[in-house]
Amino acid sequence: MLTDAFGRAFPYLRLSITEACNFRCTYCLPDGYKKTSSESFLSPQEIIRLASAFSDLGVSKIRLTGGEPTVRSDLATIASAISGLPRITTLAMTTNGYNLKQKARIFADAGINALNVSIDSLNADRFAQITGHDKLHAILEGIEDARRYGITNIKINCVLLKGINDDEWPDFLSFARSQAVSLRFIELMRTGENAEYFARHHYKGEEVEQRLQGEGFWLKPRGDSDGPAKVYIHPDYRGSIGVIAPYSRDFCTTCNRLRVTAKGQLRLCLFGEFGHDLRPLLQHHHQQGELKARIGDLLRSKVATHRLQDGMTGLTPHLASIGG
Ligand code: GTP
Ligand code: 5AD
Ligand code: SF4
Repeated sequence: MLTDAFGRAFPYLRLSITEACNFRCTYCLPDGYKKTSSESFLSPQEIIRLASAFSDLGVSKIRLTGGEPTVRSDLATIASAISGLPRITTLAMTTNGYNLKQKARIFADAGINALNVSIDSLNADRFAQITGHDKLHAILEGIEDARRYGITNIKINCVLLKGINDDEWPDFLSFARSQAVSLRFIELMRTGENAEYFARHHYKGEEVEQRLQGEGFWLKPRGDSDGPAKVYIHPDYRGSIGVIAPYSRDFCTTCNRLRVTAKGQLRLCLFGEFGHDLRPLLQHHHQQGELKARIGDLLRSKVATHRLQDGMTGLTPHLASIGG
């Protein structure tokens, strides 16, 4: 198993397969994705070599991210190959849901067995204002389809935004009360490009937690493999509510994931550092040994914490560029 100098183990890889996205979320890509001349994302073959090396190193969960992973026409080929690796037990995908209704079955058949879907508003007009697409109902239907095809591990991500969707609190609560969903409120993160937006709309994670406690929610004890979300439950609710609050002090102590960008850069933390280029080692199968040794070496330089609380934003222009 991969471990770092602080004894943290890394069974989980977030693998971005594209920076492109068809949405224009106001906090992420307000002007939409602009294709650049240097756009050359990892090929399926490079991705498989990478996934196979990480799986040899003890990774059992891979999450496909983007941009929006479903804009790649070879997604099913990539997913089938990764899910076929012997040690991969979870192949997850984070998606905006745009293509779910048409393709839920294809995703399930390719071995994707967990989905995180972004829904920042339960009001169709507002959803369209935030994302640039009037797709809320189609996405909710797509989620039902995915369940029908056997993808039962589904989480809904909602970035809570002061003055934009925080008045929907009662709607979000009744959503979690009536449905067996795992809804997560994500604290808006400041990135290289959204500083002004962040100043206006950042809603503190600790305020969300206080509100939940005020409604009678209980913090569920953490499981070893739990991600960054603190999960709250309530006896009257069918669903649970998670809070992802990267500005809270102890956030990084439970870090269990590594990231590789769509161009093959290993990122040891979501914020605050350059990537380490693995792409030259993804060109031939006989480089696998060297690739694995390099990943192990790099992990030893992973730092204890991102220091967001101290005002660090890092170099990430927006989360679409490294897959969140
Ligand atoms: P699972 O635990 O596998 O469900 O993943 P997740 O909740 O981390 O995945 P998802 O892609 O849905 O990401 C949700 C939010 O968490 C996004 O805003 C991510 O950027 C954020 N996030 C994920 N990992 C980290 C992390 O290591 N550090 C920080 N600061 N934020 C993270
Ligand atoms: N802060 C918090 N969450 C963000 N996401 C994208 N950009 C940001 C940001 N700046 C969320 C998306 C998606 C998840 C992968 O990351 O809404 O749910
Ligand atoms: Fe696309 Fe996700 Fe960014 Fe929205 S948050 S623009 S869906 S990458």
